[in-house]
Amino acid sequence: MFVGEGPGYDEDVQGRPFVGRAGQLLTKIIQSIGLQREDVYIANIVKCRPPQNRNPETDEIEACHPFVLKQIEAIQPRIICALGTFAAQTLLKTIEKITALRGRVFDLGGVKVIPTYHPAFLLRNPEKKRAVWEDMKHILDLLKETGGRD
Ligand code: URA
Repeated sequence: MFVGEGPGYDEDVQGRPFVGRAGQLLTKIIQSIGLQREDVYIANIVKCRPPQNRNPETDEIEACHPFVLKQIEAIQPRIICALGTFAAQTLLKTIEKITALRGRVFDLGGVKVIPTYHPAFLLRNPEKKRAVWEDMKHILDLLKETGGRD
């Protein structure tokens, strides 16, 4: 399962997560470990598009939190990849920065959580793609350890 921040313009129009430019990069990231989008579940921390693409506010994150927890409960993912600061901080209840969180494995009620950089951040900072590639390889190793990719 991949968890992002919230819908942007394209996602708002289509009602689906990660369908814009960042979404196209997320598709490539997923494919980099031999998976397809259909193999994973993609969700967002906030369910409505913040006006002018501003960052989600604390009360908005709190209002949406029960929904993402229900999604996790329903999907029962083996691994959650938290995309970017908002997803990682919200799921892990921390204020640590994504730079400090990535490269580590966390536990959320028995589910492994791997934080990595958000694809929109990668579009602006392509030199960080290598780090995300390392995180994806880590996810693949963990999937293999826990009984194949299925
Ligand atoms: N960015 C996100 O965090 N989520 C989306 O669905 C699209 C872009």
